[in-house]
Amino acid sequence: MANFPDFERSRTFDILVIGSGAAGLYATLCLPPNLRIGLISKARLKTGASRWAQGGIAAAIDPQDSPKLHLEDTLKAGAGLCDRQSVQFLVDHAAKAIDHLLTLGVTFDRKGENLALTLEAAHSRPRVLHAADTTGKAIVDTLIAQVLQRPNIQVISPAAALALKIHPQTGTCRGVTALHYHQMIELRAGAVILATGGGGQVFAQTTNPSISTGDGVAMAWRAGAIVRDLEFFQFHPTALTQPDAPRFLISEAVRGEGAHLVDETGYRFAFDYHPQGELAPRDIVSRAIFSHLQRTNLNPAQAHVYLDLQPIEPERIQYRFPNIIQMCSRWGVDVLTQPIPVAPAAHYWMGGIATDLTSQTSIPGLYAVGEVANTGVHGANRLASNSLLECLVFATQLAEIQLERIPEEVPPSPIWVREDWGPDMKTVNSIRQELPVLMWQSAGICRTQATLDQAITQVRIWRQEIKTSPLNQYVEPPSNSSSDPSLNPWIKFECPEAESQLQLYAETLNLLDIAWLILNSAAWRTESRGGHYRSDYPETQSDWQIHTLVQGDRWWKSSKL
Ligand code: FAD
Ligand code: SIN
Repeated sequence: MANFPDFERSRTFDILVIGSGAAGLYATLCLPPNLRIGLISKARLKTGASRWAQGGIAAAIDPQDSPKLHLEDTLKAGAGLCDRQSVQFLVDHAAKAIDHLLTLGVTFDRKGENLALTLEAAHSRPRVLHAADTTGKAIVDTLIAQVLQRPNIQVISPAAALALKIHPQTGTCRGVTALHYHQMIELRAGAVILATGGGGQVFAQTTNPSISTGDGVAMAWRAGAIVRDLEFFQFHPTALTQPDAPRFLISEAVRGEGAHLVDETGYRFAFDYHPQGELAPRDIVSRAIFSHLQRTNLNPAQAHVYLDLQPIEPERIQYRFPNIIQMCSRWGVDVLTQPIPVAPAAHYWMGGIATDLTSQTSIPGLYAVGEVANTGVHGANRLASNSLLECLVFATQLAEIQLERIPEEVPPSPIWVREDWGPDMKTVNSIRQELPVLMWQSAGICRTQATLDQAITQVRIWRQEIKTSPLNQYVEPPSNSSSDPSLNPWIKFECPEAESQLQLYAETLNLLDIAWLILNSAAWRTESRGGHYRSDYPETQSDWQIHTLVQGDRWWKSSKL
């Protein structure tokens, strides 16, 4: 059994897991139990996209279904950019992952004795397991309960990772710096697993929680990791669109159960755009709504169509979607009698840190799992309910992790910092407000060279501006800093606001960095495919059947897939 010494004396772990969503929690449970694991989460343990997952988790467990059909559907949705081997791995290991969740105590809905399965867009069979419309909560709460029972896991929360520590001689990842209770500390480890989730907050309209600021991709990119296919963002067609309400997701399962998309005249328009109507792939349905709304003069921030649930029996709605009923009612919509106002919103980032089948990134000692990673499973467009599955299946690979145990180090004495960054925060706050609006307008559902170029220019200016702040030294330490703990500061902030200011600064820099990467990747790919749609290059081009690879300031194409 692992034995954790006093945190003030030792901050050395065998392995650090950054993030407590499905990917991070499951990874900690899969890691060998003899390892001392530090699990860091920048918010409460329960905060993240995973706990918000509604529709469910895909697995070909029905006798009428097969991993082969699941593979075909995933490849088709991925629009030519999936890595076949990764997808094969995903679908082959799906049933085992579900069995393990059941063993751990996750209660999925049942139909009689059997697990109940629903249909979602672009699946050729009903294969999505669910727990009403709060599947993510059922999974995450079970995983948290398991993690809290493990004596080898030390939960460090709230603690926001600011930067990766890369050993200057070996180039190996050896830990992170993190903000934790008014201090900046260094946590050392033989390896780091990034499980920080997605980056939907870079867009003004998003279903993602506030923690989804792309921290993992930004930190890994700044540390020199290869990142892949960052232009591919998935826009979910149906997010609640009510004044002042967050873009609460209205699950695809609602359309899977039979709801219709209609415009303000009651016209069911989805079949004008695709023969599968409301159940066409997500990018097509989102673009159909976008195009339909272009014909109106509505304010783009509030323009919406409607999701009409009348084709579904009221008892079925109450049984399947209790959380959606409750949330809509909170925002003034009675889903049993009124259509729900909906519009597309940024939902899932297909791009991420390039990883192999063992979840290893291009930096030795750095692993990535979940939405932060690009395993090649989703290609240009993710098939619904494949991401929770990906979190589990690829986290399982970490059971085989090989790592170097690093010696305990006593942290240096703390340095007190008195700074108040109030004046710097004005710029940071205004960028934090304006960037998502710019990104929604330029890199949202429909992109053009002109809008992308304008946004690139603005983001370049903002990045230069923000990097002159004294706060930058804590997030981007000078490149000659070392992993030698005696040279690494343990900083205690005297000003009570310093921690929240530094966290906001770090998240804003991360958002600017991922915006930079998304915009440049989107400008570079002169075709349309999956979640990346260019109205100036509307066709899919066979010579673009390649991955976009980025390292530092270098963009290049993978070999043809
Ligand atoms: P998350 O669950 O987002 O967890 C990220 C974790 O990292 C959090 O604990 C966060 O606090 C932590 N973190 C982030 N940055 C830092 C930092 N700097 N330092 C320390 N900690 C940090 N997928 C499906 O398959 N089925 C669904 O039904 C489904 N429904 C969805 C519904 C909604 C509303 C949303 C937003 C997504 C949905 N998805 C669904 C997608 C899926 O939920 C996510 O892709 C998946 O949960 C991502 O899991 P994750 O563990 O990678 O990230
Ligand atoms: C949904 O319930 O529509 C979300 C499912 C997903 O994103 O996979």
